[in-house]
Amino acid sequence: MGASVTRVIVNSDLTINVDALIEAVRERPRMLLFSNPMNPVGGWLSAGDLSRVLDATGDETLIVVDEAYAEYAEGEDYASSLPFLSKRDQPWIVLRTFSKAFGLAGLRIGFGIVGDPELRALLDRVRTPFNANGMAQAAALAALADEEHLAKVVALAKAERTRVESSLRSKGLDVAPSRGNFLFFNCRHNASAFAEGLLRDGVIVKPWKQEGFDTYIRVSIGSPAENDHFMAALSQLL
Ligand SMILES: Cc1ncc(COP(=O)(O)O)c(C=O)c1O
Repeated sequence: MGASVTRVIVNSDLTINVDALIEAVRERPRMLLFSNPMNPVGGWLSAGDLSRVLDATGDETLIVVDEAYAEYAEGEDYASSLPFLSKRDQPWIVLRTFSKAFGLAGLRIGFGIVGDPELRALLDRVRTPFNANGMAQAAALAALADEEHLAKVVALAKAERTRVESSLRSKGLDVAPSRGNFLFFNCRHNASAFAEGLLRDGVIVKPWKQEGFDTYIRVSIGSPAENDHFMAALSQLL
């Protein structure tokens, strides 16, 4: 759409570079867009960092925070932006999805929380009619009501994330701290070739190609058996 994009790169320890983010928002962009926790690396902003970034943002900037992975991060040193944004007098949108912790990616349903009815009306004007079907909406409501199931699957994903992370570290690999349902790590080989090798063993991961990150791979946390399969395939390849 002809916009110019300023990207903020992570720190060398793969955490979010909050100072660089603050510097970028001081340029008064039309829109500030980030995910928290962040995909693909897994970093997150604490309440303090989030406040610093939002406070540096001018009132005319539209703030969009994608909280697709919030369920995996809540209750730790992670803060949803909702309580912060709802106190601000500027346009903002928080995005949530049923594709991750709720396990409903195939139904293509999520929602946005919008600070201002006028902004919501603008979004309604550009979205396609009937874009979230009735069955998906019914399933999403049922999923929201089943807190016990959500707590169970999130706890399992977090325990497995810790287990896979420890296993990667025990092999001497650098792994980014993550509050998502995935891990971003340095396989110390060409990531694309390494991913091909894993694929031959039935494991699909995402290799990075970007300069400086072309030995990095993101792996999603699966079931305990799937994670065992991944770790065995990885050991073999290493
Ligand atoms: C940050 C982020 N937002 C959104 C999505 C996808 O959400 P949806 O399936 O609702 O389009 C993903 C996952 O692929 C993601 O990583």
